[in-house]
Amino acid sequence: MQFSTKTIAPEKLKKASILLPIYRNDRLGVAAATFDKLTGSLIARTLARGDLAAKVGSTLLVHGFSTPSQAVTFDRLVLVRMEGEQATNKKQFTEATRSGLRHMISTAATETISYLHEAEVSSKDLAWKIRCQVMVSNELTYRTDQWKGNREADASKLKAVQFAIDKEGSALASKGLKEGIAISAGVQTAKDLGNAPGNVCTPIYLGERAKQIGKSNKIKVQVLNEKQIKALGMGSFLAVAQGSEQPPRLIVMEYKGGPAKQAPVALVGKGITFDTGGISLKPGAEMDEMKFDMCGAASVLGTMQAVADLGLPINVVGVVVAAENMPSGKAIKPGDIVKSMSGQTIEILNTDAEGRLILCDALTYVARFKPSTVIDIATLTGACVIALGGHHSGLFTANETLSNALRSAGDSTGDTCWPMPLDEEYHEGLKSNFADMANIASRAGGAITAACFLAKFAKGYDWAHLDIAGTAWKSGAAKGGTGRPVPLLTQYLIDRCAK
Ligand code: BES
Ligand code: MN
Ligand code: ZN
Repeated sequence: MQFSTKTIAPEKLKKASILLPIYRNDRLGVAAATFDKLTGSLIARTLARGDLAAKVGSTLLVHGFSTPSQAVTFDRLVLVRMEGEQATNKKQFTEATRSGLRHMISTAATETISYLHEAEVSSKDLAWKIRCQVMVSNELTYRTDQWKGNREADASKLKAVQFAIDKEGSALASKGLKEGIAISAGVQTAKDLGNAPGNVCTPIYLGERAKQIGKSNKIKVQVLNEKQIKALGMGSFLAVAQGSEQPPRLIVMEYKGGPAKQAPVALVGKGITFDTGGISLKPGAEMDEMKFDMCGAASVLGTMQAVADLGLPINVVGVVVAAENMPSGKAIKPGDIVKSMSGQTIEILNTDAEGRLILCDALTYVARFKPSTVIDIATLTGACVIALGGHHSGLFTANETLSNALRSAGDSTGDTCWPMPLDEEYHEGLKSNFADMANIASRAGGAITAACFLAKFAKGYDWAHLDIAGTAWKSGAAKGGTGRPVPLLTQYLIDRCAK
């Protein structure tokens, strides 16, 4: 999709397809009033018939035809119901934009001019409204059929969205455009990686993709192989990988946009390219969805790409631990004890709690970059899906400032997270008679005890853990990666630059 901003004289348009906001009680804004005037009150007369429902986000398609007495400047109008000029909130605006664009995409229009950002959104500026529309357009036209042999013709004819703006708005509009394009490209990278099947998206493949992203975006990328991982002493990470024919990879991406001496932010992603559970084998139903168990890694790659695209003045390190969790004659067994890079030993009571076993070594490894803040992102527990469902990612951190910053980045992008506890009491269940800790506690509070396990390794920096098990992909008819939490993470880094 192509995006641009444009100052437009409505009377000069020809054959345009236009997205127009209509407010509560059929009130026309400046944009709609202008077109209404040009068309002998076509909009007001259409609305008087009552076909545009009162609900925010309702849409109505109006075709324009010139008559001998009246030259009409457009082919199509898609009228989109907004709340009122003052009161449209960001969720409503996003929803209304989604339904308006969806309606436009269902027509034969090849390009559209949007006035939707005329609607006022509480506490959000023009940049946010443009960015929202760019992201929604890319979301609606994203396709999951690259693996089909028999691809249908492109369902959407829409190839370009122009945003009508006046001169004063142009700086904010180009900021919104730039952010929207970069973040949605990062989201698309994360979706594509998530959706790629496990036989294609292996640890080696993730390493190759990271290198590609690094090349086109000036990010230094290092991909460590099994031997190098062994030399680092990552015994816990290697233990998970040992059951698979696919060798593990440790991917390190360094983006240096800030001052050389500035301590970086590190993003650490779980990259289990397929999670069978190992010897603690998972049940068969929906096991295919465990190809998404590398979505934390995918979000690190997507965010690194977005940050570099935006040229943010900040230093960011992305670390991905990639392995496949398989049962085999060489696989770890319940009761096995492994030594982590930190020196702490772990009794593996369940081989399906493998995410924490690979992340713990990454959390130790990342300390060498002397990061100020480390955020790990992982499809870590089914328990988090039970606790929070698919709307919020689980947020675990003892640091209130970091918690607030991540929550606010989530709120402003609609890629939200919700704080969960990490109290000392929850550590109790991880005790082992034989090793420094066990890798699981009882079923109760499973998302929290998993986070507590990680906390034992996140030392020497501010740390937050995002459990994205419920938010990284959708099941059922809409099965597919969501690209979350790329928007949240990128916004967090943008906000950090502003401070
Ligand atoms: N990748 C899974 C978590 C998961 C499960 C995410 C279902 C999304 C949907 C993780 O490796 C796992 O298997 N966790 C176990 C932990 C348990 C053995 C303590 C779980 O959640 O069942
Ligand atoms: Mn597992
Ligand atoms: Zn897993």
